[in-house]
Amino acid sequence: MRIDIVSLFPEFVAQCAAFGVVGRAQERALLSLHGWNPRDYATGNYRRVDDRPFGGGPGMVMLIDPLRDALNAARAADPADARVVYLTPQGTRLTQAKVRELAAHPRLVLLCGRYEGVDERLIEAEVDEELSIGDYVLSGGELAAAVLVDAVARLQEGALNDAESAAQDSFESDGLLDCPHYTRPLEHPLGQVPEVLLSGNHAQIARWRRMESLGRTWLRRPDLLDEAALGKADRALLEA
Ligand code: ADE
Repeated sequence: MRIDIVSLFPEFVAQCAAFGVVGRAQERALLSLHGWNPRDYATGNYRRVDDRPFGGGPGMVMLIDPLRDALNAARAADPADARVVYLTPQGTRLTQAKVRELAAHPRLVLLCGRYEGVDERLIEAEVDEELSIGDYVLSGGELAAAVLVDAVARLQEGALNDAESAAQDSFESDGLLDCPHYTRPLEHPLGQVPEVLLSGNHAQIARWRRMESLGRTWLRRPDLLDEAALGKADRALLEA
């Protein structure tokens, strides 16, 4: 998969993607990242990339042309059709289902805004989709782009060493939160490992994990239960 980042700080996203699973995905050529800086496409002595908003008010708005030229350069760099995603708090909320959908595209172009935003005409003309990573405001789209790069990179075939671990993540298989995990040492001043995990009884362990997942989701994120793929047995547990 190829991801192009259009940003005033493309190195920032590249740094975030240099470590761990995402760094390894790049080493394994499962992911290639390319940065495009609108400042390189700005003209005039000052290479302006922003200006004051029409109608007045605080902050600056990013100019159409440097962004558009950077976007077009990114598009032209590879023949594969790219989906252009603008990271903005005004976008629809990123979910694991959306991550999965985007991870299946051969190519994404991520547009990161700074300042108050981007001229709306550029968004209308060039952007396929606007996404937000949550209901809070960051100082730019770069961190959001790094989040998206991480989430799609780890879903590329061969990115995770244990292919199972993706399937068992929170949200991934059935929309529930993950169960708790324990490892050695068995005895520790901070507490006990639940007995059932030592029993060797795989059916019981699976049942315990399912109950923990359901319980956590019910307590922490009851909103997810409406969407989760629950079976009859799950419903009985929740309604008991
Ligand atoms: N840019 C600024 N805040 C953002 C957010 N919450 N999600 C995506 N992009 C952003």
